[in-house]
Amino acid sequence: MVLYGTTRINERGHLEIGGCDVVDLVARFGTPLYVYDEELLREACREFHAAFRKTGLSYQVAYASKAFCTKAMCRLIEEEGLNLDVVSAGELHTAVAAGFPPERIHLHGNNKTPDELAYALEVGIGGFVVDNFYELDVLGRLAFEAGRTAEVLLRLTPGVEAHTHEFIQTGQQDTKFGFDLASGQAEEAARRVLKTASLRWIGIHCHIGSQIFDTDGFVAAVDRMMGFYARAVKEWEVPLRVLNMGGGFGIRYVEGDDPLPVEVYIRAIADRVREAARRFRIPEPEVWVEPGRRIAGPAGTTLYTVGSRKDIPGVRSYIAVDGGMADNPRPIIYQAKYEAMVANRALEPASEMVSVAGKYCESGDMLIWDVRLPKAEPGDILAVFATGAYTYSMASNYNRVPRPAVVFVRDGQADLVVRRETLDDLVRHDLIPSRFRRVRHPV
Ligand code: LLP
Repeated sequence: MVLYGTTRINERGHLEIGGCDVVDLVARFGTPLYVYDEELLREACREFHAAFRKTGLSYQVAYASKAFCTKAMCRLIEEEGLNLDVVSAGELHTAVAAGFPPERIHLHGNNKTPDELAYALEVGIGGFVVDNFYELDVLGRLAFEAGRTAEVLLRLTPGVEAHTHEFIQTGQQDTKFGFDLASGQAEEAARRVLKTASLRWIGIHCHIGSQIFDTDGFVAAVDRMMGFYARAVKEWEVPLRVLNMGGGFGIRYVEGDDPLPVEVYIRAIADRVREAARRFRIPEPEVWVEPGRRIAGPAGTTLYTVGSRKDIPGVRSYIAVDGGMADNPRPIIYQAKYEAMVANRALEPASEMVSVAGKYCESGDMLIWDVRLPKAEPGDILAVFATGAYTYSMASNYNRVPRPAVVFVRDGQADLVVRRETLDDLVRHDLIPSRFRRVRHPV
């Protein structure tokens, strides 16, 4: 088991994160509880800065807020000098509510609604990553009506798709996102954006995948993207300045996951960009990236309370916790794997093989299959690691269970950053039509 950041086992044999004993955290905030190691969040941001500084290129790092978006997180991102990538009016509103400087935000999405585009224009965000022809038209018109010139990147699909250790390179890419490079869509988009006076075309964007452990896919994508970038600059004489290579930098969830240091990904991208710029004799673009998981993932731990148990002799033992697929849908959606620990008895050796079930009414609601743990009793605390990305942000109220609280911990201090939902929160938006009468049925 690898413990990230400030996470350690203390003299009481308890798990401790950010100097806070998780037993105390549970007594104070209840479970399930998302706990973020604030120092580790900040360290991850700094790693990207440090990696880029070494390359000498101009750069921007935008945190992909879809991974985990709350007001406190937006504030932390601002303090660490990162920009913000948002994909909806909701994420944008969270950033605005946190006082995040709008000019450091860019908006993504394959079907941004006219209302979302109008809101983003009104707020004055720094840029739009335009995904399709419909958006080009709507944004062009809305910007014109608002008397604005919007800066845009065109999202391209370079025909490179990367996951973990493998990447595939094809002509076209079968995805809902972006303008296809191979079929000429990207050129058509370029022609149209150049004809729209209310839009200023500043660069191109791609995102080749997620949880990537290798640099080959990024390098292949840089080649294709720089080919197009160079044509825009030289043939069409467009003063582009940005190459945005998206996110996708992998993290370790379980043994066997072996992501690269941030510096290695960034150096590979930067070297290839520089080489291409030299080859095409064009100025080096600013390189932007959009990490989500790599910033938020390792810093998050979810704490649960163990409840019921079911032993099927010769088959399997299940222990159930008070959360599951609604606070972490990744196992049920992606068969994602996690490591766990009985956090109030962290020094006890593992004595049995169990599977950790959630509490939701679905057989597939399993958090971890086959994990070796000390014998867990009702009331024990189970910690599941590396749950900082795409858990809270993808959480639901399935089975009408209130969503958990989120705390940031640092130097022995724990601060609530999202309150636990209450039962009343669950019915807050419910309405009963007035024509529904209260009928008493005779029994
Ligand atoms: N930029 C764009 C345009 C993206 O679409 C994404 C993620 C990112 C950046 C950030 O990617 P990251 O660095 O976090 O890999 N729910 C899935 C992940 C979906 C990622 C979607 N796009 C999961 O839980 O694994």
